[in-house]
Amino acid sequence: MPSKQKMPSTVKDILNYDLTLADTVRAFTGAYYTPLSIAQTMIEDAVCFYLQNLGYKCADVDDFMAAKASALAAEILDLLSRAKLIDMASGTGVFGFAWLSTLDKLHRQYKLVSTDQYLQRAMRGIVLNDCNAASVEQFSALLKRQFGLDFKGTILSVDALCELAMQPAVKKVVDDGGFDIVIGNPPYIGERGHTDLFAPLKDDAKWSKYYMGKMDYSYFFVHQGLDFLSKNGVMTQIMTSYFMTADGAQKLRQDLQQRATWQGIRYYDKLDEFHAVKNLSFVIFSVTQKRDADVICRIQRNAKRFSASNRELYSAVGHIQLIPPADNELLSRIEQRARYKLTDLCHVNQGLVSGADRLKRKHCKMLNIPYEGERPIFVFKADECGEDEQLKPFLKNSDIGSYQLAKAPTQRILYSVADNLRNRPQWLEHLAPYRAILSRRREVKAGVRKWYELQWPRAESIFLAKKIVAPQRASRNCFAYVETPVYGSADIYFITLKHSLPYAEVDEAALLKALTMYLNSSVVYLWLNYKGKRKGAQFELYASPLRQIPVPAFSAQHVD
Ligand SMILES: C[S@@+](CC[C@H](N)C(=O)[O-])C[C@H]1O[C@@H](n2cnc3c(N)ncnc32)[C@H](O)[C@@H]1O
Repeated sequence: MPSKQKMPSTVKDILNYDLTLADTVRAFTGAYYTPLSIAQTMIEDAVCFYLQNLGYKCADVDDFMAAKASALAAEILDLLSRAKLIDMASGTGVFGFAWLSTLDKLHRQYKLVSTDQYLQRAMRGIVLNDCNAASVEQFSALLKRQFGLDFKGTILSVDALCELAMQPAVKKVVDDGGFDIVIGNPPYIGERGHTDLFAPLKDDAKWSKYYMGKMDYSYFFVHQGLDFLSKNGVMTQIMTSYFMTADGAQKLRQDLQQRATWQGIRYYDKLDEFHAVKNLSFVIFSVTQKRDADVICRIQRNAKRFSASNRELYSAVGHIQLIPPADNELLSRIEQRARYKLTDLCHVNQGLVSGADRLKRKHCKMLNIPYEGERPIFVFKADECGEDEQLKPFLKNSDIGSYQLAKAPTQRILYSVADNLRNRPQWLEHLAPYRAILSRRREVKAGVRKWYELQWPRAESIFLAKKIVAPQRASRNCFAYVETPVYGSADIYFITLKHSLPYAEVDEAALLKALTMYLNSSVVYLWLNYKGKRKGAQFELYASPLRQIPVPAFSAQHVD
């Protein structure tokens, strides 16, 4: 992949060559390369926390980094030049470069002599793994040009999880006490579509204890980073923020809670410098070996800076939460006043899955027929159908507004479930040309559905009942009360009342309307902002966070 690319000529080109990487290659290797500016921030974080762990006062370290503490400079720089640094998945080597240029800059700022000797010693402590041949060549050329030096560190090209720990250059450092800085941007790869990558780890004694469904490959790198850390060492990594709350990251959070202490966390709803990865929120975190639970962690949440003790970072369910103190107090009050969770009062149901809404280009490819534009299979646009009892109003995500629907649904779905099309030959005729596509759906293959049925029709009662609907993704809490029958896809949740309610005296519609008011409130916004799930700047209003929303006791008067 990189060897086929044009040889870049500037520092920026070399370390940002990821901008030219094809998306397919990227998705396969989890290769989202870190821009130099972010790598530099991470190196500075790691240096600060490492020096604090060595006993330097926070203020002295800040002064040193700002080139204001010359009394300590020679001593600190000498220590740093002896530090051992590893990047397990180094790609272009951006962190190695950021490390050396940070040291070089500090050395020059303090006007210390013998920079070359000093940088050469620092280089010998560096281990970069996963540098492919093209990267090594570029990285070496860059160091030569920037510092006039040949790279004397260790460059490896082995599987970080199965082979790295056994490499003599790594084993020796770990046996001698460990790495002082474990830095990087591990590959983000889910198991789906990459079962081959996970299979050897599931059967391996070292890794199987950390394996769980829905985890990410990057989590293994964090577990290994903890194995590699020296007593005062710091692991600084950049990852998507999913691990803070994801169900599949439970074992990762447990391991971090047992073996690590948080020193710094920077959280970004979106990271504009990270051109390659759009619409994802990111976390840069720094941890050291386990210390007291009262150790304070420096936090940056977007533009807000605050701190929290390690104890406060974990929620009651083991999620990692970054909540500024004032908002934390509000949240505690919300939780204290809540009598219920939404799940105590309501069913939270996901919408239906047809398995083939409309004929798309990919279907035509599959059938080897020419593509002549999209056509309805189960889902019809307004001008594609007339009235028919089998065609039901079908919501789009964007039809949902706050409090009520922003507009009436214009799409229709052919609600084909069990044998309800038996006496409707015209609909079977409509579906017949797509039979080959419909028969490929997993449930049809397994004999659970007939080829003409919806894949997951859900219980029809959830679409017919009075309900609250919510889009799965939205930039704020967005819940609409709907009285009439409407259907919708799996990217919409249908919230219906449970039968055994503590509000016997209250009318169903009135209670749902009161809940809709509450769910759209700033109180619920605050709760979802900190306790819910996110994808970049968007809330992910999935079933689990929705079910956990705290709900106060409504009196009959409130509901009125
Ligand atoms: C997210 S990229 C980060 C690269 C680099 N550290 C940076 O920040 O620019 C992840 C890197 O992990 C590498 N990778 C994937 N699986 C790996 C493995 N098992 N061992 C070592 N490296 C791996 C990919 O080739 C890719 O270069």
